Order: sequence, then structure tokens, then C-alpha cells
Amino acid sequence: MEEFAEIKVEGKTIKLPVITGTENEKAIDIAKLRAETGYITLDYGYKNTGATQSAITYLDGENGILRYRGYSIEELAEKSNFLEVAYLLIYGVLPSANELANFEKSLAADINIDERVKNLLASFPAKAHPMAVLSAAIGALSTFDVDSQNPNRSKEEVLKTIISLTAKMPTLSAWAYKNFNGEACVNPKAGLSYIENFIYMMFGKDADPVIVDAINKLLILHADHEQNCSTSTVRIVGSSNANLYSSISAGVSALWGPLHGGANQAVIEMLEAIRDSGTPLSVWIDKAKDKNDPFRLMGFGHRVYKSFDPRATIIKKAADDVLEKLGIQDPLIDIAKQLEQVALSDEYFKARNLYPNVDFYSGIIYKALGIPTEMFTVMFALGRLPGWIAQWKEMTENKEPIGRPRQVYTGANDRPYVAINNR
Ligand code: SDX
Repeated sequence: MEEFAEIKVEGKTIKLPVITGTENEKAIDIAKLRAETGYITLDYGYKNTGATQSAITYLDGENGILRYRGYSIEELAEKSNFLEVAYLLIYGVLPSANELANFEKSLAADINIDERVKNLLASFPAKAHPMAVLSAAIGALSTFDVDSQNPNRSKEEVLKTIISLTAKMPTLSAWAYKNFNGEACVNPKAGLSYIENFIYMMFGKDADPVIVDAINKLLILHADHEQNCSTSTVRIVGSSNANLYSSISAGVSALWGPLHGGANQAVIEMLEAIRDSGTPLSVWIDKAKDKNDPFRLMGFGHRVYKSFDPRATIIKKAADDVLEKLGIQDPLIDIAKQLEQVALSDEYFKARNLYPNVDFYSGIIYKALGIPTEMFTVMFALGRLPGWIAQWKEMTENKEPIGRPRQVYTGANDRPYVAINNR
């Protein structure tokens, strides 16, 4: 039975349809609001506004639930592997053994990148941030896959581009790091797995299984997160019928921000500043609470999770495991745990439901794996790629309209032009 909501403006009451999702989430469809009342809604940061209906990822922020295509993040992190999760997100089902093998084979067959991309990377200044380089390099790939630019591309052409980009992402990520370090880019080596090749191209050595397992888990945990800032960016760029490379390149740029994926780099920089300052944690907690101080507790808080980020719980345990297996003592993890304890017992953080998010502990693992701080957000992008692709594919297959929000104008009213001599 169809449900409706009623809105009354200027004495007129209109009925708007209510949408109910498969997890019983409710939304009011305001598509005809402006036509019937002349009013729009206003919601800075889209905190209460849905942009789409999606079958990819389900989040329950109050109960700390995260599922990809119905499978819990806890089970996937424990039992699956990154390419299987990528297949699940993109194609909507867990692959059979044969389907996964074919997926891996098609990726392996498409890992090579035109040598001219190396020249593009070499044109960047020394120490160019790897996220800037990655975004530019992904955008450049569309010039080597001209079919991808065809707005009337076929399903087959879309799948070809999806494979091409997914296959090349570890190489571009590693090359962005080599460029940052002023080292020559290393080509992928046939016969290595997706993650083994990334490690080989980054460090030029065979990968320790402990490191492969840890990266595999981290990439799974970052693979999708419904309509976050960077995914919404990918969707809105794709909604203009722009090609996949351009849409993902925009997503990388959005992810770079320290309020979003860039937080994992900012967390480590914060923990190192706390360690080097020698000042008590309480000073930093007070700074985070002080409205006049721009300092925020990086890695804390989330737009959706108001109880705990299930990914942070898994990563915190994985950090302990990795440090133990690699025999590493990192004082930063002790500072992080103390900071978490102090914050979670503080009324300011409790009243605002501020808990550690996915970025709070991930940097500690990346650091233990030998991945440099400037590469942390690239690791986030490497993990998030299949989620971005799945969301872009869903939006284009559903033929969703071009994204174009409205506004409330607050500028000058109509006024005559004044000649420059009279101003
Ligand atoms: C990611 O959306 C996603 O799903 C993103 C992500 C994904 O997988 O794609 O999960 C990945 O981006 C995780 C978040 C990483 N960012 C950080 O760790 C940066 C630090 N956190 C914040 O800046 C903040 O918590 C946000 C950006 C994450 C969320 O901001 P909101 O939802 O806009 O909340 P807000 O800024 O309005 O804060 C509400 C209150 C404010 O205080 P009051 O004005 O009510 O007094 O909480 C305070 C804020 O000042 N607050 C913090 C805080 N985060 C929020 N105070 C101190 N330290 C913080 N970290």
C-alpha cells in the first residue's frame, strides 16, 4: 500500500510519496515539491538528503552495520579477498571459482600502461603529492581508451573500460609513489597477484604474506561506503555522461581532502605531533573541543556512524596483529589507544557521538607495512576503486538524470548598470 507524507505551505497541503528501502529506510520523494508549491528544500552537506536509491552498500550508523551487497563487512574481511569483493561490488554477486579466475585473468592481461604515461608523471615537480599525480594519471588514461569517451558506449565497452582501469590502478598507485620519491617507475611483473604486484612495484621485492594479508583486508574495508563525498563526486561527474576515467579522477580529488580520505595521513601527522610535543593528551583533547582552535581530532567522528565504525574495530585489531607479526613496537599505536580512551570518556565526544572512524588506526598499519604517509590516501583510493566503479555503473545503467541541485539566492536584487566614471 503506497504511503504518503503531507507538507503544508502557505495554507496548501500537498501529498508526497514515501519510498521504503529493503532495510525499511524511509524517504520522502520531493520530485514534485517545487512544481506544486514553488518551494525547494535546503540541506547543507546533504546531511538529510538522499541522492539516489542504491543496491550496493547498506550502512546503519546507529548500530555500526556495513554490508556490501548484503554481506557483512566482518565476514568479507575475514573470509574473502579484495578481487572477490571487487567482483561482488561491480557485478552484484559473489563470483564462482571460474568467474573469479577469469576476472583475475582479464585484469592480468590488461595491466600494461602506455609508456607515455610515465612521461606525464615525470613532468611533475619532485615530491608531487601522489594523490595529485594519481588523479591526473587516471584522467589521462581516457586518452588511451578513446572508446570510453563515447557517450553512447555499449555495455561491452563499459566492462572493457572497467577491467582496464581496475587492472592499471595498482601500477598507477605505485608509479605515483615512485615519482614522489624521484625513483624510476617499475613495470608490473607477470605472474604476481594484484597486491603482490603493487608491493613489487612499490618496493622492488617479493611480498611478505603478512603484508599481503594486511593490505588485502584493508582494501576490502575501504572498498565502498555508499554515498560518501568522493562517491557522490564520481556519481555527479558521471551523471553528465562523462567517461569513467574522468569520473574516477574527480573521485580521487575529492577523497584527498583531510575531512575525507586524507584523514588517514592527517591522523599519523597528528599522532606524531602529539608524540613530539611531549604535552599531555588532555591538552590536545581540549584543543579539539575548543571552537576557536582549528585543531580537530583527526580520525574521529563520522557523518553516518553515531555508535562505532565497524571498520575501525576490525582495523584496530588488525593493527595489533600486524605489529606483533612483524615484531614492530610503534609508540603511535599506544598514543592512539590512549587518545581513544580519553576521548570516549569525555562528555564533549560522547554527546556528539564521536568515535574512531576508518582512518584512525589504518595509518598505523600502513606505516608498519613500510608505506609512506603521503601514500596513505592512495591506499584508500586503491581500495575504494571498485566501489566507485560499482556506483558509477549503477547510476549509468539506471539512466539517472544529470545532477544539478537548486539554490536559494541571497545576492543583490535587480539594479541598473553604473558607468565606471560614476562608481
Ligand atoms: C571518511 O562519509 C563517509 O562514509 C566517509 C568515509 C568513507 O568510507 O568514505 O567513512 C571516510 O571520510 C571518514 C571521516 C574522516 N575524517 C576525519 O577523521 C576528519 C575529522 N572528523 C571530522 O572533521 C568530522 O567528524 C567529519 C567530517 C567526519 C563529519 O563531520 P559532520 O558530520 O559534518 O559533523 P560536524 O562537522 O557538523 O560535527 C558535529 C559536531 C561539531 O561540534 P558542534 O558544532 O556540534 O559543537 O562534532 C564536532 C563538530 O565541531 N566534531 C569534532 C570532530 N568531528 C566533529 N570535534 C572535534 N574533533 C572531531 N574530529
